[in-house]
Amino acid sequence: MVVRRVDLRSDTVTKPTEVMRAAMATAEVDDDILGHDPTAFRFEAEMARIMGKEAALFVPSGTMGNLISVLVHCEIRGSEVILGDNSHIHVYENGGISTLGGVHPRTVKNNADGTMDIALIEAAIRNPPDAIYYPTTRLICLENTHANCGGRCISVEYTDRVGEIAKQHGLKLHIDGARIFNASVALGVPVHRLVEAADSVSVCLSKGLGAPVGSVIVGSKGFIAKAKRLRKTLGGSMRQVGVLCAAAYVGLQDNVGKLADDHKKTKMLADGLNLIKGLKVNMASVETNIIFFDIMEGVNILARNLTKVLEEHGVLIMPVSKLSIRVVLHHQISESDVHHALTCIQQAILKLQGVK
Ligand SMILES: Cc1ncc(COP(=O)(O)O)c(C=O)c1O
Repeated sequence: MVVRRVDLRSDTVTKPTEVMRAAMATAEVDDDILGHDPTAFRFEAEMARIMGKEAALFVPSGTMGNLISVLVHCEIRGSEVILGDNSHIHVYENGGISTLGGVHPRTVKNNADGTMDIALIEAAIRNPPDAIYYPTTRLICLENTHANCGGRCISVEYTDRVGEIAKQHGLKLHIDGARIFNASVALGVPVHRLVEAADSVSVCLSKGLGAPVGSVIVGSKGFIAKAKRLRKTLGGSMRQVGVLCAAAYVGLQDNVGKLADDHKKTKMLADGLNLIKGLKVNMASVETNIIFFDIMEGVNILARNLTKVLEEHGVLIMPVSKLSIRVVLHHQISESDVHHALTCIQQAILKLQGVK
């Protein structure tokens, strides 16, 4: 029997569309390390234009995009970066900025909405000329949307304010914009305006945009020149990379316009989850394509057990703690998939409670 599959683990699980595959098959390519791949060149120029920055660079992953960005801004030994304690760079990137780059992380508490208190950011900046024992702050990192805070959007006003503080103290601002297009669409702010205050942004192509591989970093020409050298050092430069850029280009053209719909379906799923007895979603936190939902204590069901039962029915979700689960939507999840997933979740809960 074929089980209908609804994969809600992440927006990284999308499969390249037929149009993407065709674009990959016919992409005009050359050796990008020698600087001659025309498709990579066109794609990077378009990304720089859309993001309102001078230049762009394709990199294999979001993790490498963040790592390169932090290391370029913190190239002087003894540098410190201020970043959220719940940020992707701090929690999920193997501590690469320290282990590979020798950069010291100074964490500031992330609020539930993904921001850090401005006063706490300012208090964390260290560069007193007479204190020779502190690392020197050189960079602030924001994350938009903030994944671990449930895909919440960071406003343009907040970003501008952090940018002003960075400038006042001679620091750089990097945005982990893995899902910056989701934020732009949800906030109704053009993406270039949203990141205007940033010196660099890394954007994932393999999440909501649906490309199979890659991220892009954008910034000034000088920043990108240094980033290119570092990408080579890290083994992230690739030869006929236009094959991947061709898919990303299609994602940019075809899928940014679908994000609003993804957000609508996410709200629909969140509403449905909230109606299931024993589950709870904080609706205020559902702004884009990510939902964190909780199993209420008295229900006596563990997230991992619910995940297992659902998997048998083809619905894939991601447990994040004993009683908390994350689901993420993307353009290959239909409204009918949302209804099917809700029915399966309701049935799985009844089954786990022993209700026939
Ligand atoms: C906010 C955020 N930043 C960076 C990354 C890293 O991207 P990649 O998995 O391509 O390394 C992710 C991946 O999930 C992410 O959610």
